Amino acid sequence: MVSQALPWWQSGVIYQVYPRSFKDSDGDGIGDLQGIIDKLDYLSWLGVDAMWISPFYPSPMADFGYDIMDYCDVDPLFGDIHTFDTLVEEAHRRTIKVIIDFVPNHTSNQHPWFQQSCQSRSDPRRDWYMWADAKADGSPPNNWLSMLGGSSAKPGTLWKTEVEQVPPPLVPAGSSWKWDAATRQYYLHSFLEQQPDLNWRNPAVQSTMFEVLRFWLDRGVDGFRIDVANFILKDRLLRDNPPNLSRTVIHKSRGDYDSQLHIYDRGHPDVHGALRDLRNLLDGYDGQTPRVAIGELAVFTLQEWAGYYGANLDELHIPFNFSFLGARWNAKAIRRIVDATEAILPVGAWPNYVLSNHDEQRVASRFGKRSARTAMMLLLTLRGTPFLYYGDELGMRNVVIPPERIQDPQEKNVPGLGLGRDPSRTPMQWEGSPNAGFCPPGVEPWLPLADDYQQINVEVERGDPFSMLTLTHELLALRRSRCALHRGSYAALESGSQDCFVYLRKFDDERLVVALNFSDEPQMVRIAEHGEGRILLSTSLNRKEHINVGALMLDGHEGCIIELNSSI
Ligand code: NOJ
Repeated sequence: MVSQALPWWQSGVIYQVYPRSFKDSDGDGIGDLQGIIDKLDYLSWLGVDAMWISPFYPSPMADFGYDIMDYCDVDPLFGDIHTFDTLVEEAHRRTIKVIIDFVPNHTSNQHPWFQQSCQSRSDPRRDWYMWADAKADGSPPNNWLSMLGGSSAKPGTLWKTEVEQVPPPLVPAGSSWKWDAATRQYYLHSFLEQQPDLNWRNPAVQSTMFEVLRFWLDRGVDGFRIDVANFILKDRLLRDNPPNLSRTVIHKSRGDYDSQLHIYDRGHPDVHGALRDLRNLLDGYDGQTPRVAIGELAVFTLQEWAGYYGANLDELHIPFNFSFLGARWNAKAIRRIVDATEAILPVGAWPNYVLSNHDEQRVASRFGKRSARTAMMLLLTLRGTPFLYYGDELGMRNVVIPPERIQDPQEKNVPGLGLGRDPSRTPMQWEGSPNAGFCPPGVEPWLPLADDYQQINVEVERGDPFSMLTLTHELLALRRSRCALHRGSYAALESGSQDCFVYLRKFDDERLVVALNFSDEPQMVRIAEHGEGRILLSTSLNRKEHINVGALMLDGHEGCIIELNSSI
């Protein structure tokens, strides 16, 4: 029986490139598109199938590119549209797909649309954004809070420099509303005040944003990572969010933002209709190669998450599954997440897993150096599309950022909560020379390099048969060559050890078992009563032996992929 190949976005592994930090080709200390082109051979060698490039559009960089001034161009910092075209061409030549960020919820406040919208209440672009009147006392229309810690809005301070046409309101710190003194209304910014929210209920906004998608699809991009996809439509009545009385925090603590249940400012049921329209547009381009819609969702219950595949699997191909981000690193917790993901997945939907990204702590810092290896084996052997964040393949760690070099607006707005994202956005470590080959020696990179770059870098690790990079490389090769891994079924197995997570991946006659030890201590796992198997890959990279599957000894934090000789 010849079974049909899966679409690339299901069988493949997607690598996230944060362009500011990947490779600087022009010596300004900031990565750029030419730098990515220069490193395509590396990605090809590494064995990833696609890359997702975080925003590179013209931007004042208040939120490092998530504040866009022009959706159809490239910021000169990163190159120009021709460099982008070359990037797509060169990536495709190496059979690497290109996914770009689409930021539909907000623009920059410097975007000409917003500038026009601010002109007057009767401006044709006024309704492109979320404007609302103040309450009778001058305060914001409701209690909504900004997810990046709000604006400069502090009680009483907002008014000193502005036209005093209305009584000074008390804008609570962290409010997602910013007063515009000239037109005497508030505008909504779910993130920074420099990121005004678009009004997706205005059909002109929706059709213009869909034109943006066409612009890039026509240039050959293979899909989009949709920023905060569930924020784009809000409560029509702008009702107050209710208090989060139990202060339930699912993912990470966000300070005052956690004081509310965010039921009116995001996740509106109408979001699903917009995502269906978007999917429809993408499906229309499927002729040459399937295009993918990946949605970032601030959603941390699997029930709600699964809804974004769409009732008829007609919304997102991949709603990011962030369940691992807040998870405790132990076998029981991780197995529970994977089993719950599999159980809740709508029929025909495809799972995915994310271990880190540009908003999160590095895996090697969250879980520790040895666990980072087991984590990589987990990520690359589960059923579903894995997302691999640049540098995690090396075991790059969070970098401590001296106060004077902090860049992230979130850390500046909400200091001290550990929400700063700079530590995981530092320059990629290519080699042991000064500036790690990221930018020329003598140039100051936009964020400091890790102290350990002379040991943790591509050049050194490529030459080391036991390095994290070698492990990642071998895992990627194995995943690609084994159907059981890139498309087989998943079933958790009982192994007799509470500290191990053991699962079977199966396709036709191919049966691979993955056994991961989450503890410091050696553990005995019993995959079956008896039978033979062969270790294909161990996280220690020093075992390729035949084993008795009735008694497999795993070292502390060791993971193994075992091919079974007989059925279990
Ligand atoms: C999610 C992005 O991942 C994050 O980096 C950004 O700050 C917000 N969306 C706002 O665009």
